[in-house]
Amino acid sequence: MQVTPMRSWTQRLRSLRNRISLLVANRIRYSRGLHIEQPCGRIDGLSPAQQVRVTGLRRKYGFAFESLLSEETSLNNYAYLDFLDRAWVAAGGAPPAGLVMADVGCASFWYAAALQTFFRPRRLTGYELEAYRRYANGYTRQDYAQGYAGAWPATAFRAQDYLYETESAELITCWFPFVSPEPILAWGLSLNLLKPNELVRSMAGNLKPGGALLMVNHGSEEARSAAELCAAAGLTRQWQWMDSQPLRPRPQPPVASYWRH
Ligand SMILES: C[S@@+](CC[C@H](N)C(=O)[O-])C[C@H]1O[C@@H](n2cnc3c(N)ncnc32)[C@H](O)[C@@H]1O
Repeated sequence: MQVTPMRSWTQRLRSLRNRISLLVANRIRYSRGLHIEQPCGRIDGLSPAQQVRVTGLRRKYGFAFESLLSEETSLNNYAYLDFLDRAWVAAGGAPPAGLVMADVGCASFWYAAALQTFFRPRRLTGYELEAYRRYANGYTRQDYAQGYAGAWPATAFRAQDYLYETESAELITCWFPFVSPEPILAWGLSLNLLKPNELVRSMAGNLKPGGALLMVNHGSEEARSAAELCAAAGLTRQWQWMDSQPLRPRPQPPVASYWRH
């Protein structure tokens, strides 16, 4: 039985405000066209430790994000690549390569470059339900996502709720899904969209035989909740790793866990 936690009045009000703002965003789908970032060429202002790690990642993976992306996005991509790199080193295996991949809840898909560089997938699709959120410069999240995806072969963005997806994948990644009310409200979404059980079940259901789910959560408490959801969806954890020294500081240490049927 699924227990619905009590919501406070302030949470309900924030949820209503977020719901209205999402409805408005979904009605105004005007697009300014693809958003293509200006490559920064180089990243300034790295600490000595960051500089060493970024140089190592560039060498190991043979790609410089700054040849494609702005400084901020490049650094964020190095942070995700660094996390993946050290998670797999800790797990003691080679990353899966050449697979059909889905990334669930990809936001603007700003990290498509890190996923491509690390996993070298045969195909990669990012899913995001809040695709028409508009940024201050007038571009929507989808405009950005299509720009990021378009830089890579066989990479696509779908403005879609993953709960209704039935296409299977060999590897599904899910970075920081919402598992409790506060984060989803802070992100600007309404509580009716908080369906962690259903989301994990749908990812588990779309895994091809032998496929895997990489889940990433904020801190050990969230990772514990996510682990319960994965186990309830019939998945078995292969490994888990917490990053106590992320390349970019985060409020909570990110935790990766890797699951199969
Ligand atoms: C905390 S954000 C993480 C964004 C991104 N993965 C990252 O690492 O920056 C979670 C994202 O999942 C999206 N999301 C939540 N439920 C979803 C669903 N059922 N289908 C597709 N996207 C969903 C939200 O709109 C939000 O953009």
